[in-house]
Amino acid sequence: MKNICIMGTGYVGLVTGACLSDLGNKVRCVDIDLKKIRILNDGKLPIYEPGLQELINNNVSRERLSFSEDIKGSIRDSEVVFIAVGTPSDGNGNVDLRYVEGAAEMIAQNLNDFKIIVNKSTVSVGTGRRLKEIIDDKSSGKPEFEIVSNPEFLREGSAINDFMHPDRIVIGTNSEKAFDIMTEIYGSLYLMETPFIKTNVETAELIKYASNAFLSVKISFINEIANICDKTGADVHVVAKAMGLDGRISPKFLHAGPGFGGSCFPKDTLGLVQLAKERGITPNLVEAAIKVNINQRMVMVEKLKKLVPNLKGKTIAVLGLAFKPNTDDVRESPALDIIKILLEEECIVRAYDPVAMDNAKKSIPELNCFDNMMDACEGADSVMILTEWNELRQIDLNMLKERLGSPNIVDCRNIYDPKKMKDEGFNYLSVGRPLLKDEFNAVQV
Ligand code: UDX
Repeated sequence: MKNICIMGTGYVGLVTGACLSDLGNKVRCVDIDLKKIRILNDGKLPIYEPGLQELINNNVSRERLSFSEDIKGSIRDSEVVFIAVGTPSDGNGNVDLRYVEGAAEMIAQNLNDFKIIVNKSTVSVGTGRRLKEIIDDKSSGKPEFEIVSNPEFLREGSAINDFMHPDRIVIGTNSEKAFDIMTEIYGSLYLMETPFIKTNVETAELIKYASNAFLSVKISFINEIANICDKTGADVHVVAKAMGLDGRISPKFLHAGPGFGGSCFPKDTLGLVQLAKERGITPNLVEAAIKVNINQRMVMVEKLKKLVPNLKGKTIAVLGLAFKPNTDDVRESPALDIIKILLEEECIVRAYDPVAMDNAKKSIPELNCFDNMMDACEGADSVMILTEWNELRQIDLNMLKERLGSPNIVDCRNIYDPKKMKDEGFNYLSVGRPLLKDEFNAVQV
């Protein structure tokens, strides 16, 4: 096992550090934001990720995992340094590499022995080569090092499971020594026959972009099919189920909704478009998926207008703010985009989310949040379900109808059954499931 330093204590850095320590490595996590390190050393988390606090506590108590304010010392004491810092987008597809490059410079200044430098952050193709240039330049011939690209495929809310049960581990390097050290770090995952993809740095970097872009295209595709369902009386759930039974398609990522959000898909699709265009290629398909995704927010508002034609001055209860369930992350959340449209229409918005309200208010300070969903629904002219939290699936429909001003629901995550909602007396719209005229539904039982 190895001495590892993880630079960056966000979603990727913390999960990677905790899991690598659980696999038997000695891991020190550092961050330029010392507030995060102090929160972690107080036994708390700067982010919400199910199971992470327990995993961290277990490995801190075994002295395999620690959080240090001494960045330089942690780098110097490590054989392997992971760069897991943010690579924000400027909204036009330009990936901001300042944090990644800053980490590389910090490593160069503390290159006291041979090190493997692993980039875990999602970066444009060619960044690994750039990092080598920076470290070569700043370290002026100090001990050798190797650059490795090891992209992450962690979904927020299931990140620990995704790390410990990966479909594949991608290792981009030209060095046999570096590859061998990486297989040692991943220990039991390597020994348990997890597929390891060994390739060069550029290919590993593009695998990450291509994977996320494909998943984004798949989501925009099913959302486009859902919009066609709404106009044809077809049921998108049955379409998706039948499509997914084809092994070449797979049933995953075929859930129609308000569009994708999060810190990855929106940024990575724009990043892929940018890197293609810089090289004279127009990625029409990925650009179309981005356009469909942005438009899907408006499709949800148009559904609301069917139930509440004149939105001005009307009260809309928004249930769910996070970009997906089991996270407090609201980055690029469809919910926030839709709320901004409602506020522009001069609606009165009442919001609820189990964990994401604090983060939502950083983005929309005037957002009126409530500690429970029923208070948020009080007197509302309609509800919009925008995140498929499990607790929203068990809502008391009788109480909901009593609290609402009008029994209108726009279910943007298809968590309720259309026929049941009609029988309960709601005016109910969802995504790609027009109220079925015939009782029979062709879904496989
Ligand atoms: C994604 C990738 O899945 C992961 O491999 C990568 O490392 C990081 O980005 P994440 O953004 O955390 O993970 O969440 P994910 O579960 O992929 O969902 C992304 C967005 O797509 C969410 O807004 C979700 O609501 C939406 N989505 C997902 C759909 O609208 N329909 C689907 O079928 C699946």
